[in-house]
Amino acid sequence: MPELYIGLMSGTSLDGIDCALVDFNGEKAHLVGFEYQPFQTNIQDLIQKLSKPDALISLKEYGTMDAQLGRLFAETVNSLLAKVSISAAAVQAIGSHGLTIYHAPDAEFPFSLQIGDPNIIAEQTSITTVADFRRRDIAAQGQGAPLVPAFHRAIFHDSTEFRCIVNIGGIANITVLPKHQSEKVIGFDTGPGNTLMDLWIKQQKNLSYDKNGAWAQTGRINHDLVSLLKQDVYFDTPPPKSTGKEYFSLPWIYQHFDPLNYKAEDIQASLCFLTAITICEAIKKHAPATERILICGGGIHNDYLLELIRQHSTCPVESTEQYGAHPDHVEAMAFAWLARQTLNNLPGNLKEVTGALNAAILGGIYPARPLGSLFI
Ligand SMILES: Nc1ncnc2c1ncn2[C@@H]1O[C@H](COP(=O)(O)OP(=O)(O)O)[C@@H](O)[C@H]1O
Ligand SMILES: [Mg+2]
Repeated sequence: MPELYIGLMSGTSLDGIDCALVDFNGEKAHLVGFEYQPFQTNIQDLIQKLSKPDALISLKEYGTMDAQLGRLFAETVNSLLAKVSISAAAVQAIGSHGLTIYHAPDAEFPFSLQIGDPNIIAEQTSITTVADFRRRDIAAQGQGAPLVPAFHRAIFHDSTEFRCIVNIGGIANITVLPKHQSEKVIGFDTGPGNTLMDLWIKQQKNLSYDKNGAWAQTGRINHDLVSLLKQDVYFDTPPPKSTGKEYFSLPWIYQHFDPLNYKAEDIQASLCFLTAITICEAIKKHAPATERILICGGGIHNDYLLELIRQHSTCPVESTEQYGAHPDHVEAMAFAWLARQTLNNLPGNLKEVTGALNAAILGGIYPARPLGSLFI
């Protein structure tokens, strides 16, 4: 009997919605279907506006975006189910990450805010929806992030090989998986993934990302500039730690240097190198025994970034694809897995990763409409 769950993920890159239908019946998670729904530019612009630190937005705009995203998430689920001809009744639950508009785990009153109303998702899909995963970990004094390491352990752990999983979304995060299950799993955000490169090419060329790293490759890495950027306090802060695009932002670039003093393509090359080197150095420092690095997330499509990571790693660097999950599917699959944990009353966080005081059952549950006359 299949055990089907859906994961909905929309990360800091604001590129779109990833939706994975996963079967957990069997030893490892098995992908049954996948749908990607890119955001239209007007939605991207609105979310950008909403998620700027100190954004001046009205409660009406906030509520509207919450509802609008809830609908988009539900539509993505429904179109995936139609594509694979599977009925909603066959799916146990949806795990919806939501869209992060502000992540402030180190504030005086720590919080992390994801939107995309799960009431709407449950109502419009007729599937029980689990959402709001991060705030429970924060309530337990954790960072609320990263939450994918427990899933990475479940599918990528190997008792014969010390592995490090690197997810390169807007922000990059790593999960360190020692051979022995008894050894501590470490995981944290290393810093920028694609976000600074995306922001820079948007500002300079009005493109949403640097396809295959082609523009960066026309520039030259300025190592003095990279050294300057690497002095940022985040990189040397010991884990547990997490960050967001409200920190690694366009103002972050301007705070550190004056772009007028450099060629725009050299800045892009240097930002690409910064992402690569901060990932590699984090692995060398916190997981020196790593025997294989497995990459997932959109950053894997940036050939130049991958080349730089390979150049600065001491072990093979590969895609997660040959190891159980396509790199574009991993994060959405993780949220399907997290929903399953929650419905089974099992924790979703790793307290050694997030720094929470305790393991916690994450998320709020928004039940599907039960079948029966009262609810017709
Ligand atoms: N062909 C490509 N070349 C370079 N970068 C790419 C390519 N495809 C995707 N990306 C990068 O991946 C990002 C999306 O990655 P994703 O894992 O979805 O991040 P998030 O989880 O933050 O949404 C894009 O914003 C872009 O920077
Ligand atoms: Mg994405």
